[in-house]
Amino acid sequence: MDSKKIQLCLFKQILSEQNLMAMKKVLAFSGSNSSASINQKLIRFAAEKVQKAEVTVVDLRDYNAPIYSMDLETESGIAEPVKNLLETMSGYDGFLISSPEHNGSTPAFFKNIIDWLSRADRRFFNGKPIMVMGASPGGSGAGSARAQVSKMFGHFGGKVVAEFGLANFHKHLAENDELSITDADTRAALDAALKNFEAALTTVEA
Ligand SMILES: Cc1cc2nc3c(=O)[nH]c(=O)nc-3n(C[C@H](O)[C@H](O)[C@H](O)COP(=O)(O)O)c2cc1C
Repeated sequence: MDSKKIQLCLFKQILSEQNLMAMKKVLAFSGSNSSASINQKLIRFAAEKVQKAEVTVVDLRDYNAPIYSMDLETESGIAEPVKNLLETMSGYDGFLISSPEHNGSTPAFFKNIIDWLSRADRRFFNGKPIMVMGASPGGSGAGSARAQVSKMFGHFGGKVVAEFGLANFHKHLAENDELSITDADTRAALDAALKNFEAALTTVEA
């Protein structure tokens, strides 16, 4: 190889290393404790579509905590799984979160974890960008739950920069029971939301 080609190769290698170093990290999870969660399926689908960040998908069932009570907090302090979640969250630049809807609200399971987190650190999102999603079997795409968590996250230092709702979830299932959004409008809405989220991620300081 001549020296110009070697120089070009080295230049490309340095660029790709810098790119890797600058790669933002996203933590993705749903607010469901169902083993067959449609919101966790949506999270996995959306995570695959993120191009300019490294996404880690976790299952909030691994951070389950007893129902919050002031007595319990006074007796035993912040629940251990919540401390672990807070520690995990601190290592990420942004969040992809999908909330199910239970009776027009976010499920008690997720609200409980949010309540615990708020006791551990009132600004647990620490100014970082969030994309809020929600999937439902019906026509709203968990719209009420999305509105509710979006408002709530603002109280905890979260910046909701993008939203996406997936209505009629079961119409978007492939034969292997995995999510496959083939409808052009729905796909375009998800792509647009992810683009806004990824753009916001680039503004997060290292
Ligand atoms: C107690 C309960 C209440 C529900 N309420 C609503 C509701 O208000 N709106 C809605 O769209 N779906 C509602 N659903 C249906 C959920 O959207 C559906 O169970 C969905 O699969 C939950 O998300 P997940 O699978 O990610 O847990 C409700 C389900 C349960 C069990």
